[in-house]
Amino acid sequence: ADGARVPVLVIGTGYGGSVAALRLAQAGVDVHMVEMGMAWDTPGSDGKIFCNTREPDYRSYWLRTRTKAPLNYFLGFPIDRDIPRHTGILDAEEFGGITVYQGRGVGGGSLVNGGMAVTPRRENFGAVLPSVNADEMYGVYYPRANAELGVGVIDPAWFDSTACYQYARVGRKHAQRSGFPFVFVPDVYDWNYMKQEAAGTVPKSALAGEILYGNNHGKKSLQQTYLARARATGRVAISSLHRVTSVTPAAGGAYTVVIEQINTTGDVTAVKNVTADRVFFAAGSVGTSKLLVKLKATGALPGLNGEIGRGWGDNGNVMCGRANHMWDPTGALQSSIPCCGIDNWAAGGAFAEVAPLPTGIETYASFYLSITNNPNRAQFSWNAAAGKVELNWQAAWKQASITMAKTIFDKINSKEGTIYRTDLFGVYKIWGDHLTYHPLGGAVLNKATDNYGRLTAYPGLYVIDGALIPGNTTVNPFVTITALAERNIEKIIATDL
Ligand code: FDA
Repeated sequence: ADGARVPVLVIGTGYGGSVAALRLAQAGVDVHMVEMGMAWDTPGSDGKIFCNTREPDYRSYWLRTRTKAPLNYFLGFPIDRDIPRHTGILDAEEFGGITVYQGRGVGGGSLVNGGMAVTPRRENFGAVLPSVNADEMYGVYYPRANAELGVGVIDPAWFDSTACYQYARVGRKHAQRSGFPFVFVPDVYDWNYMKQEAAGTVPKSALAGEILYGNNHGKKSLQQTYLARARATGRVAISSLHRVTSVTPAAGGAYTVVIEQINTTGDVTAVKNVTADRVFFAAGSVGTSKLLVKLKATGALPGLNGEIGRGWGDNGNVMCGRANHMWDPTGALQSSIPCCGIDNWAAGGAFAEVAPLPTGIETYASFYLSITNNPNRAQFSWNAAAGKVELNWQAAWKQASITMAKTIFDKINSKEGTIYRTDLFGVYKIWGDHLTYHPLGGAVLNKATDNYGRLTAYPGLYVIDGALIPGNTTVNPFVTITALAERNIEKIIATDL
C-alpha cells in the first residue's frame, strides 16, 4: 500500500527474484515482490489459465493489438492475427535491431519458456562468468538450482517409441549421420505427466501445442517450485500488475520505490510510494537494465558506475528450418517441449536444439533454435528526448550467429541432400535472425556490480537476475541465472543482513 515500509522489496518474479525471495524468507526476512505482469492463477471462460499456440487470444501478448509470433510465417503465409490489448503473458519488446521476447507475470520467463534446463559444460564456464569460482558453482550452486527447479531428463526408451518425438528422432538421425554429438536436453517438464498425455489419461499440455503463452499442465514453472516454497514461509507477499518506475535514496539508508498499479489494458490506476531497506533488481536483463540506465541518467541514482547498461548479448540465438525428404516425416503430433540438441560448440560455436513445430499437421520440416558464440555486445542508453531507454544492437550482428549455425546445418543438408526452409520467417527467408529469447547482461557481475551483485555505490541495492551475465551462457540460460542467484544470495544473507 502507498506509504508502506518493507525490509526487502524485490522487483520482478522471474528466476533471480524467486531465488532471492525464498532464501531471504527462509532467513527470517519479510519480502515484498512487485511484478508488472498478471498473477496467472485464474482460468478464463474456457476453463484454462493459458491459451495455446494454435489459437492465441487476449492472454497471449503483452499490450499488443496484433500477435507477433516468433515463427511468423507458415508455408510462406503470415500467421499473425488481431487480438484485444491486454496484459498478456509474452512480451515481444522491440528495439532498433532486435525483438526481445520475455515472460510477463508471476513467474517471469518460467511461464512462457520451453523449460530446457541446461547446465553449461564445465570447460565453457570460464567464458560465461569469468569472475566466479567454478568449483563452487559445479559443486554446490548448479546442483542446488537443478534440484529446486525439478530438472529431469526424458526416459530414453520412451523417446525411442513415442509418436510425439518423431521430429526429435529425425533430428538425432540427421545429426549423427553428419557426425555431430547429439545430446538429450534436461527440462523442468514432468516427463511422467507427458507420458500420461500420450496415453490419453490426463488433460494435454505439451501435446496440445502449449508453449510460449503458458502451459496449463506438466511444466514446473516457478509458480510450482521456488515461488510456492517462498509463499509457504508466510513471509513473502506478491503484488501483480504493479510496475516499479523509480528507486531513490531515502532517509536513514533506505530507498523510496515508486510503483505504478496498472489494469489489464495497461492504464495506470494508482501510483504508490514504498520505503524499502533493501531493493533487489530482478526485472530481467532488459527490465533491470532499463531501470538502472534511466535512474542513473535522470539523476535518481547518479552514483551508479559507467558499466551500467553495457555488456548486453542475445545468447547468439538464431532459428532455421530444414526441408526433409518425404521419407523423413517429422510427425503431425509434436511435443511442444524440446528434449534434445546438437552440440557443435567446441568445433563451430553452435549448440542447436531440435525444436518442435506443433502445428498439428505434417510439415516435413526440421526446426532448430541455435545458441551460438556470437561475440557482439550492445549497450542500453537513455534517450532523454524520447524519454525512453534504447539498445544499440545491430541487425547485421546476427551474421556471426548464422555463420556458426551453418557449421551444423550446411553439413547436414549436404549429407542428406536437403535444403533450408524459406517459408518460416517470411517469403524466401531462411534465418530467424530478428529476435532473441535469451536476453543477458546490462548490469554485468563484477563490472556494474561487485562480484555478488551489489550496486556498491548504494548499500542495500542489488542486481540478481540475467542482467548479471555478460551476454552468453553457451546453452539455455535459466539454470545459470538460478545458480548464480543462489550463490549471490547466500553471500548477501551471510554478510549484509
Ligand atoms: P525474468 O524475465 O524471468 O523475470 C523478470 C520479471 O520482472 C518479469 O516477470 C517481468 O514482468 C518483471 N518486470 C520487469 N520489469 C518490471 C518492473 N519495472 N516492475 C515490476 N516487474 C517488472 N531459458 C532456458 O534456460 N530454457 C528455455 O527453454 C528457455 N526458453 C525460452 C522461451 C521463450 C519464449 C522465452 C521468452 C525465454 C526462454 N528462455 C529459456 C529464457 C528464460 O526464460 C530467461 O532467461 C529467464 O526467464 C530470465 O530470468 P530472469 O530472472 O533474469 O528474469
